[in-house]
Amino acid sequence: MSQTAAHPLSLPSIGLGTYRLRGLDGARAVARAVESGYRLLDSAFNYENEAAVAEGVRLSGIDRDEIFFTSKLAGRHHARPLADEAIQESVLRTGLGRIDLMLIHWPNPSQGLYVEAWEALVDAREAGLVRHIGVSNFLPEHLERIEAATGVMPEVNQIELHPRFPQAEQLAHHREKGIITQAWSPIGRAGAYGSSVLDEPVVREVAEAHDITATQAVLAWHAARGVLPLPKSAHPQRQRENLAALDVALGEDETAAITGLGRADGRLKDQDPAVYEEF
Ligand SMILES: NC(=O)c1ccc[n+]([C@@H]2O[C@H](COP(=O)([O-])OP(=O)(O)OC[C@H]3O[C@@H](n4cnc5c(N)ncnc54)[C@H](OP(=O)(O)O)[C@@H]3O)[C@@H](O)[C@H]2O)c1
Repeated sequence: MSQTAAHPLSLPSIGLGTYRLRGLDGARAVARAVESGYRLLDSAFNYENEAAVAEGVRLSGIDRDEIFFTSKLAGRHHARPLADEAIQESVLRTGLGRIDLMLIHWPNPSQGLYVEAWEALVDAREAGLVRHIGVSNFLPEHLERIEAATGVMPEVNQIELHPRFPQAEQLAHHREKGIITQAWSPIGRAGAYGSSVLDEPVVREVAEAHDITATQAVLAWHAARGVLPLPKSAHPQRQRENLAALDVALGEDETAAITGLGRADGRLKDQDPAVYEEF
């Protein structure tokens, strides 16, 4: 279990991404992951799979209380009372009684309702519908605005983070504020949008030095930077490969070398939360 110094929330060191794991096949893929040791599952209202991911928990036979089920509030549900109803709907879809971590999926700044959405999450935590609350894709200015408005800082911020986009400044901001960083697309979607970070010579060299795969080298890089990665795989063998990456400790030089792959325009799909919005 990893924990930031001043933070009471303790999370597993890695979670399973579940985007596109849907229906019965998705539930079975989640069950295999839980059986092999994943305890944190990353779902969202907009993935249309909260029920399938929860079914995977039941199929695994693992006690529900051992699972950390995450979901996210969609952009079209920021206004109240829509936000309250959507959070309740997410809980009902899971059938798990409560959601362990609820995030605001995107700030959608031009819509201007993320403070209202945050108030709904704060109240849902108060009511016991969700245990922990956080955000996703929030820039420092968005984090500061919700803190100023409510006095409540998110426990987690889930952001795009991979070697081509290492987000050093955002990480430093999170550290200062005691926010846990989760990485989405932690292996850069394995090259789904062009050249794969897994093919970078630096990554391959680190992998060879530790006798691990390139994917494991990238996941170990996240761990070395205190980041919680959420790799998605539908395949049990890859799920286990990804989980085993946490056994590998990279040296400072290796970590810095992989961070060196970062580029200012390194986002996979140009989804800058200052302007990009999802509903
Ligand atoms: N908050 C947000 O706005 C946001 C945005 C995007 C994603 N997310 C979350 O983050 C999760 C992860 O991001 P992602 O799904 O975009 O990308 P990712 O985890 O970086 O990459 C997933 C891709 O890599 C492949 N893969 C996984 N393990 C592999 C391995 N060991 N070797 C080779 N290929 C491997 C998967 O294929 P197979 O499945 O075929 O193995 C899949 O195509 C999502 O599933 C979702 O939960 C959140």
